[in-house]
Amino acid sequence: MTPATNAPAFYEGKAKRLFRGSKGEILHEFKNSATAFNGQKKAEFDGKGELNSKMSAALFNYLRSKGIESHFVRWDSPNILVTRELRMIPAEIVVRNIVAGSLAKRLGLVEGAAIEPPIVEWFLKDDAKGDPQVSEDVLISLFDQKADLLKEMRTTALLVNRHLRELFTTVNLKLVDFKLEFGLDDQNKLTLGDEISPDTCRIWDSQSNEKYDKDRFRFDLGDLMTGYREIWARLVKVL
Ligand code: TMP
Repeated sequence: MTPATNAPAFYEGKAKRLFRGSKGEILHEFKNSATAFNGQKKAEFDGKGELNSKMSAALFNYLRSKGIESHFVRWDSPNILVTRELRMIPAEIVVRNIVAGSLAKRLGLVEGAAIEPPIVEWFLKDDAKGDPQVSEDVLISLFDQKADLLKEMRTTALLVNRHLRELFTTVNLKLVDFKLEFGLDDQNKLTLGDEISPDTCRIWDSQSNEKYDKDRFRFDLGDLMTGYREIWARLVKVL
């Protein structure tokens, strides 16, 4: 469903198309596509765009109620996240509470061990290079990023982790890890951007450890939308 604008998308990524709205707003149209391994694996899932846009909106709202600002303005049916425009920082910040994913693979660790205190990792946002892991020093000295902004990103990401973990625990879900992106707003204020959804988080059942996130698609663990709908059905009761 294309948003009610005549202008073409000014950017198309793997999971979203971006349009300019009125009053400087950006319309993020969430697609039904899922990709993994830097686009090597790809499929379409009915209802994914709607669910991820709705969940992102609800989680940004929740974080705002806890004092964490984001680009979020409103949600438009069925799959549009309306936001303020940010100048994006070309880094992805990942917070990990439980060993999984690329951390387990890189260090040869068994999935599922608790990480205390949580770990923050940085990745360069560059598809052509496969989003390589980098250090803060690399971002500062080679990619022109400001140390104080990276420090603020780290603090905010850990605060987001605290609030989301608490929320997910109330509905019997474990927040294993997640990825955030930040940008600068028109006042040069560091602001949370992008999305927060089962595409960008790992979320397991608290008791069974069943995986409800995009790992279902990455590793053929079961129907993707069954997992996504399970997360949403639980969250919607408390959001
Ligand atoms: P990783 O274990 O593959 O490094 O992923 C860490 C977290 O980041 C996980 O919750 C999934 C999320 N993620 C993205 O949002 N986009 C990506 O391109 C990748 C690789 C991971």
